[in-house]
Amino acid sequence: MTRGFGIVGTGVIAAIHADAIGLLSKTRLPDARLVAVTDVVADAAAAFAAARGCPAEPDLGALLARRDVEVVCVCVPSGQHAAIGVQAAKAGKHLVVEKPIDVSLEAADRLIDAANSAGVALTVISQHRFDPGLVELKRLLDDGALGRLVLGDASTKWYRTQDYYDSAAWRGTWALDGGSLMNQGVHYVDLLRWCMGPPAEVTAVCSTQAHQMEAEDTALAIVRFASGAVGTILSSTAAFPGFPQRLQITGTNGTVTVEDGQIVGRALIADPGPPAPDPALGTARGTAPGASPDADGLAAADPAALGVASHAAQLADLLAAVDTGREPAVSGQDGRDALEIVCAVYESSRTARPVSLAR
Ligand SMILES: NC(=O)c1ccc[n+]([C@@H]2O[C@H](COP(=O)([O-])OP(=O)(O)OC[C@H]3O[C@@H](n4cnc5c(N)ncnc54)[C@H](O)[C@@H]3O)[C@@H](O)[C@H]2O)c1
Repeated sequence: MTRGFGIVGTGVIAAIHADAIGLLSKTRLPDARLVAVTDVVADAAAAFAAARGCPAEPDLGALLARRDVEVVCVCVPSGQHAAIGVQAAKAGKHLVVEKPIDVSLEAADRLIDAANSAGVALTVISQHRFDPGLVELKRLLDDGALGRLVLGDASTKWYRTQDYYDSAAWRGTWALDGGSLMNQGVHYVDLLRWCMGPPAEVTAVCSTQAHQMEAEDTALAIVRFASGAVGTILSSTAAFPGFPQRLQITGTNGTVTVEDGQIVGRALIADPGPPAPDPALGTARGTAPGASPDADGLAAADPAALGVASHAAQLADLLAAVDTGREPAVSGQDGRDALEIVCAVYESSRTARPVSLAR
């Protein structure tokens, strides 16, 4: 039985979805197919479809009317995710929604409610949860190897040119994108929340340092987690030349450091583990074809330099969730939880006050 995917929005990230579907069909899911695409810019959809050997549908309605589309990948600007996703859910399609889930909690709730009412599966892309270093770190945390959590730091110091923000009208706007934290930093915000648990309070400062854009290009926050642990979030697109995305989790038994999806430091009191790879020797990354989480960290400076394997893993997880009736590994609620932290950072910066997230 064909597992048909339709892509809505044929821009930068759509290529990764198409490649991920192609990788799945060549490896573990021979029935996975990209069956149709659509975009409000008809020429963009036509060129994309021609390159991928599938039809371009004239509009969303036509794509949703196709019975061979089982899953819709929502790859439009962030502030339109819920609007498109709700229509797809009502048409009975399972949903892969790019990150962030949307740019407001109200929109996120609309999308989650629509998926629940329609009984369709919803996953929000957080492909780095499938990176090898994150899989290993989560296993260590679930095994209690780090002890009681003390401190978690998530850092995205990247660089985007002004041309990047000028390349599409939606980029850097509050209505459709948000800034560095909502777009680029949200990945490691989700990972921090995944590892550290729910936050209780966020205190933040955001500023626009080096770009002409509505939203921030630099965000810093201090987080108090419900567990009593504390942490920091740093996200910038003004940090030339761009550095590895970094997550460092410290517990009473030691510290694990992840950079660009690979463990680069692991020091546990009970079990020091293997020594951290020497970056100068280049042993840490890209050891298997397609396995490099983000094309050897080039996404630090190039928005299109993304690995495919982790997106493919998340798409495969969605299909497995559909088949077994379980929740996808990254649910709509997970996407909302990450967005809630981003919104709290923005609110704290706006009001110059801590924002409580205690439940
Ligand atoms: N997971 C990742 O690592 C990653 C990387 C890049 C982008 N993204 C996310 O993917 C989304 C898209 O980003 P992008 O860089 O591909 O943007 P983009 O501007 O390159 O592409 C968006 C496309 O959507 C089309 N579009 C806009 N409104 C539409 C509508 N109503 N119906 C159909 N098509 C519509 C546009 O014409 C455009 O072709 C964003 O939410 C972004 O945050 C995720």
